[in-house]
Amino acid sequence: MEIFNRLILNYINMTEQNTAIKFYSGEQIPVELHKVRIVQKLFLKPIDERKAAMEEAGFNTFLLNTKDVFLDMLTDSGTNAMSDNQVASMLKADDAYAGSQSFYRMEEALRDVFGKHYVLPAHQGRAAENIVSQAFIKKGDVIPMNYHFTTTKEHMELNGGKVLEIYGDDALEIKSDKPFKGNIDIEKLKAVFKKYGKERVAFVRMEASTNLIGGQPFSMQNMRDVKKICVENDTMMVLDASLIGENAYFIKQREKEFRDSSIKEILREMCSYADLIYFSSRKVSSTRGGGIVTDNEEYYLQMRNLLVLYEGFLTYGGMSVREIEAMAVGINETCDETVISQSPSFIAYAVNQLDSAGIPVITPPGALGCHIDARGFLPHIPQNDYPAGALASALFIISGVRGMERGTISSVRDENGNDILADVELLRLAFPRRVFTLSQTKFMIDRVKWLYENRHLVGGLEWVEEPPLLRFFMGRLKAKDDWTEKLVAKFKEDFGDSL
Ligand code: F0G
Repeated sequence: MEIFNRLILNYINMTEQNTAIKFYSGEQIPVELHKVRIVQKLFLKPIDERKAAMEEAGFNTFLLNTKDVFLDMLTDSGTNAMSDNQVASMLKADDAYAGSQSFYRMEEALRDVFGKHYVLPAHQGRAAENIVSQAFIKKGDVIPMNYHFTTTKEHMELNGGKVLEIYGDDALEIKSDKPFKGNIDIEKLKAVFKKYGKERVAFVRMEASTNLIGGQPFSMQNMRDVKKICVENDTMMVLDASLIGENAYFIKQREKEFRDSSIKEILREMCSYADLIYFSSRKVSSTRGGGIVTDNEEYYLQMRNLLVLYEGFLTYGGMSVREIEAMAVGINETCDETVISQSPSFIAYAVNQLDSAGIPVITPPGALGCHIDARGFLPHIPQNDYPAGALASALFIISGVRGMERGTISSVRDENGNDILADVELLRLAFPRRVFTLSQTKFMIDRVKWLYENRHLVGGLEWVEEPPLLRFFMGRLKAKDDWTEKLVAKFKEDFGDSL
């Protein structure tokens, strides 16, 4: 089975190497198809300073100051590199509370890419989630989906809804040969309608490049099958399009029928199945904002009033007009295969390097980042001692690389106060588009390998301060014993004065 998995993975990697360039040596390298014209100085601080910074941040990478961070792999949200054309477009921004020409340019671009008429701007993705949840979820409703996202789930529950995750049996397998682990299980979806009746299903949600299970895509065929059931049950299908470009790229790579289609054609077909699409433009168009699009006038009118109440007027929705201009350009660039393939090809490079060193990473490589399986990496740390949080802290201390915990710290407690243990304990190392170079990527890989050799030195974490809502953002923890000192001592032994 192991050999079979590896063969399939090699096949997926080989077929996806067309974005990597073959060197004379035979090596396949994801050569950057852009040049760097604006740079930001980075600091790689000595290990003692990195350890002090981690302690100060309460072992929570969200609370680090970027002055202490070398490679910021926390997220791709709002951190993708902008293009020259995006930055140039910001200069023609039209400052107006109502009726700004910038909005109409963005509206036209979104209509063209998503193929929907009505456009509602929002200040970011979760603001769109708030509007959608308030407009369409009532107490006692259920919302079936491929997998939840943290803020999505909170908004749905705040409005009295219950999230039902109906992913396929293979979705949570760490090492896998399945190209579309983000698929909804069709039989489970049918069972939801049977059990609850269509009246209680607020809508069906599909999240492109399913974030919390390792950026795994769904297939076009799966969308078609889900749509069919939605139509049969007269139920709305909602698409979270925050990472839709990458999902479209994987459809082109992995679904035979689409091998010769353009990214835009694939995007348009995906969108044609959705009755409502919302997105974080911090991801999808490399800007800071969000939005909702639909062709349904009734839905639009239902959301419009909430939008002006929570976000701002209909022609800016909490966004700066400069970002709106850049969004119009950015959404079109997302349809450019050289742009949209950059992050997945670097992720594939990192995943393949780590996987061949025996380090447990999610395969096949997905979107957004390289996801290390913390339970496999640190099997001696029980889930209640937060292995993914411990791994994130340890990696920062030994490298200055900031990742994000996506495990039990990102989960919640049940009514008895016990941790609801996460399905998967992941350390996510994000690859914002066109931000990191290959030598920086190699540095990260090297330090992860060193940490894996020394994994027995890493210990667990415990809470010092635990907020009741979205605790992973603001909570503070500490090391359960003196493991960080031992880790630092071993690092100095192996690397001497080197950073
Ligand atoms: N939906 C998905 C799939 C997301 O990944 C995010 C954000 C949101 C909605 C919310 O959008 O941040 O603009 O309010 N993901 C970020 C991340 C935070 O780091 O993965 P937002």
